[in-house]
Amino acid sequence: MSEQQTSGVVIITGGSSGIGLSTAQLFAQKGWRVGLIARGIAALDAAAESLAADPASVATAIADVTDGAALRQAAATIIEALGPVDVWINNAGVSTFAHFTNMSDEEFRRVTDVVYMGTVNGTRVALEQMRPRNAGTIVNVCSAIGLRGTPLLSAYSGAKWAMRGFTEAVRAELIAERSRVHISVVYPPSVNTPFYSHATARIDGLPRPPPPVYQPELVADAIHFAATSRRRDVLVGGQTVQLGLLNAVAPALADRLLASFGPRSMTSSNQGIADARDENLFRPTSRVSSTHGPFDREARSRSVQLWATKNRPSLKSALTFGAAVCGLMVVGRPR
Ligand SMILES: NC(=O)c1ccc[n+]([C@@H]2O[C@H](COP(=O)([O-])OP(=O)(O)OC[C@H]3O[C@@H](n4cnc5c(N)ncnc54)[C@H](OP(=O)(O)O)[C@@H]3O)[C@@H](O)[C@H]2O)c1
Repeated sequence: MSEQQTSGVVIITGGSSGIGLSTAQLFAQKGWRVGLIARGIAALDAAAESLAADPASVATAIADVTDGAALRQAAATIIEALGPVDVWINNAGVSTFAHFTNMSDEEFRRVTDVVYMGTVNGTRVALEQMRPRNAGTIVNVCSAIGLRGTPLLSAYSGAKWAMRGFTEAVRAELIAERSRVHISVVYPPSVNTPFYSHATARIDGLPRPPPPVYQPELVADAIHFAATSRRRDVLVGGQTVQLGLLNAVAPALADRLLASFGPRSMTSSNQGIADARDENLFRPTSRVSSTHGPFDREARSRSVQLWATKNRPSLKSALTFGAAVCGLMVVGRPR
């Protein structure tokens, strides 16, 4: 794969809803052939239709990402239909909102299995395809919570941190063998997707994304950017950067702030949220899903931070130019 690939075959786990579906739509618009993997057939079919692409350039396959053999088979089905995979996106995810002591062992293990082992299984299948061709990019969809653990999300926090450590280890192995296969991590903020309606909950109220909330199209853009620019890490939203910095510089303060404000900012009693509930921890959702959740009114469609990340080289040149002009003005000033 070239450094700036503009089209090819992309496979997305969890491509039937939210961020995965939005990412599939973006890649399809840009002329990529798109393979979608999830558990629910109805949502997968609806997702494929929503891509508004030539049907020959879209393929779907059912698999639970916790089942490595099923995932390998799903990848083979898609590759047979579309051709060799250039970009593999490990995006499937689930969660349980509960105090750690109220979370059953089964729920904790299931979140860990889907979020962490699903990424491990997906990475293994992708590398089996990419290493022999010495080409390809894997994008692992992490979270701001992968930079700082969050109350009520102990299983999810642990799994996202594990995903990060795992990716770092595999990346170093690929570099050591001088592989041209690249692996990238994207860190979304709170996103307006059905994720919160899909999560199981044992809390006072119902799960909601802590503000500020962003639209999934912004994260899809970040994932596309990570896949095509082969950037190591792509953080999305100023809040994600701040959370990571706060935890690196003042972790005890982060503990206290999250203890005070975390749970309150993640729960709601809104009727619209109650109506949208459709849990998917142990089985696929029963409804056809969509890209957006019930938080359109407050969700942001733009992020200056992501714009700056994507335009880092031009921004650096502009700042250097600006600094040089200021320097010349100071030096040339009459004394
Ligand atoms: N929404 C946010 O605020 C947010 C923030 C940061 C990071 N993220 C991450 O972004 C990713 C996508 O989340 P989202 O918000 O788009 O959630 P979503 O709307 O609930 O979509 C989840 C997708 O994953 C699939 N899935 C769930 N369990 C699966 C399994 N065991 N095997 C295969 N597919 C499975 C679902 O389809 P089926 O149920 O049919 O299988 C669905 O397509 C996740 O990794 C999540 O952790 C989300």
